[in-house]
Amino acid sequence: MKINLKYFVLGSVALAVVSFMASCDKMDPNSPGVEYMPDMYRSPSYETNSITTFRHDTVSTNRLPVAGTIARGYMPYTLTNDSTGYGLAGRTLHNPLPNTPEITEQGKVIYGKFCVHCHGAAGMGDGKVGLKLPGPPPAYSGDALKNLPEGKMFHTITYGKGLMGSHASQLSVEDRWKVIRYVQTLQGKKEAPAEAAAVAEDAKPIAKKNGGKNK
Ligand code: HEC
Repeated sequence: MKINLKYFVLGSVALAVVSFMASCDKMDPNSPGVEYMPDMYRSPSYETNSITTFRHDTVSTNRLPVAGTIARGYMPYTLTNDSTGYGLAGRTLHNPLPNTPEITEQGKVIYGKFCVHCHGAAGMGDGKVGLKLPGPPPAYSGDALKNLPEGKMFHTITYGKGLMGSHASQLSVEDRWKVIRYVQTLQGKKEAPAEAAAVAEDAKPIAKKNGGKNK
């Protein structure tokens, strides 16, 4: 029997098209189809937080942290949100970050994202939002705030004060101290406040040991 090449090609194409369409229809949409060396794709390891029946002390593949565990950088703030806590913060809290241009620069970036719209670029309380507030924020360099201790700033950023809301959920503890370094430059202080000066005085011999490079 002589097969007409033309019909043979046409027939094969038609068969291919039909089987192609049919295969789409029947295929499980979640199936990856044919896989080359499936072991390479489907590793026996568990996904993080996936459910396991392997261990009985937890349903999750990863172990639960020990009760009372505190994530790094999330030490709870224990001072109370009242005038006692505020006063204590002013007397006892000090910036753990060094006073370096790098930290101040990072604080400036945070200030530009979270504070500038109320406090204004120069900290005069004249940000676009600040001006609309019934009582705009006082200037950092004004009489009310120019001697404000850094601990009180931390307290206010953490809990909020008056029309300023809490920033504890937006800024980590470290970020709060960074932005405080920048706010201090806006307080217009060339000299460190009395308390900080005393701390700096204590630190002098150490600074000398490091070749006076500590700032
Ligand atoms: C919604 C506007 C608003 C935003 C945003 C805002 N503030 Fe304030 N801030 C205020 C107002 C209003 C006050 C005055 C509060 C008062 O004394 O009643 C204030 C007060 C302060 C004070 C003085 C606190 C004190 O203890 O007297 C500091 C420091 C301060 N803000 C820093 C910041 C920093 C840093 C940010 C950004 C992380 C920020 N603020 C974001 C409105 C704002």
